[in-house]
Amino acid sequence: MTAKIISGTETAKAIREELKKEIAELKEKHNVVPGLVTILVGEDPASQSYVSAKNKTAHALGIHSEQVTLAADTSEQELLGLIDKYNRDNKINGILVQLPLPKHIDEAKVLYAIDPEKDVDGFHPVNVGKMVLGEQCYLPCTPHGILELLTRSGVNTSGAEVVVIGRSNIVGKPISNLMLQKRAGGNATVTICHTRTKDMAAHTKRADIIIAAVGVPKMVTADMVKDGVVIIDVGVNRIGKTADGKAILAGDVDYDAVKEKASAITPVPGGVGPMTITMLMKNTLQAARQAAGLK
Ligand code: GUN
Repeated sequence: MTAKIISGTETAKAIREELKKEIAELKEKHNVVPGLVTILVGEDPASQSYVSAKNKTAHALGIHSEQVTLAADTSEQELLGLIDKYNRDNKINGILVQLPLPKHIDEAKVLYAIDPEKDVDGFHPVNVGKMVLGEQCYLPCTPHGILELLTRSGVNTSGAEVVVIGRSNIVGKPISNLMLQKRAGGNATVTICHTRTKDMAAHTKRADIIIAAVGVPKMVTADMVKDGVVIIDVGVNRIGKTADGKAILAGDVDYDAVKEKASAITPVPGGVGPMTITMLMKNTLQAARQAAGLK
């Protein structure tokens, strides 16, 4: 079996078209322009490229977007002060602080400082709590993007054995939770594997759907999966550079070998990445509507 390629690029493009129309309509009918600020501390090349892609997409969709880049030695106090400023800025509906932060800054303190109404990343404990309870909230962008990819590609998750590899706050924990909820894209039987899991292959071999979010290039090999599995590869690992200095990327899954056994698979790049950015735009639009008392 050769897998159907689940293209995040194509799916994201379709959703962005929908969002672009909704944003134009919001401006036309209500004179509301959604506003997003991205804050990057330091010079990590991967983070720089993610933040720049987020701003570029925001501009393309008609979202007012501000990009703040701070030096790596910026103090926690200074960052908290900036968040406070944007919490009170009516032009800004969404605040995104790119992670990871430098070690001298307490990540939890920073995330807790963002107004939950402007937490378009869905990382504030208020939003995390609401997500776990299945209440209306901002869903974290990568898990939200994964759900969209699965549902829009017609993958049935109800009753499926899902194995999530990785237990991060950004991907592993929230996607596991979302997939067990009673709603479209959920109702799965979920197993979470992590660094202390004794026999990872024993779990992955019985999975109908594998979501790999570990950050180890090509960790999931063909002998670890069953025929017909659906693979969502969240990993974006820089494994080298081309002659002209561009990063060579690999996912957490050995794509070339696993695609011969899988029924469907996301590529890297062009899989989950574009969906994460698109869901951020969707959350920013939702934030602008809510701030304007529209929904
Ligand atoms: N770093 C890696 N993924 C993310 C994300 O979705 N949001 C933020 N803020 N930082 C990240």
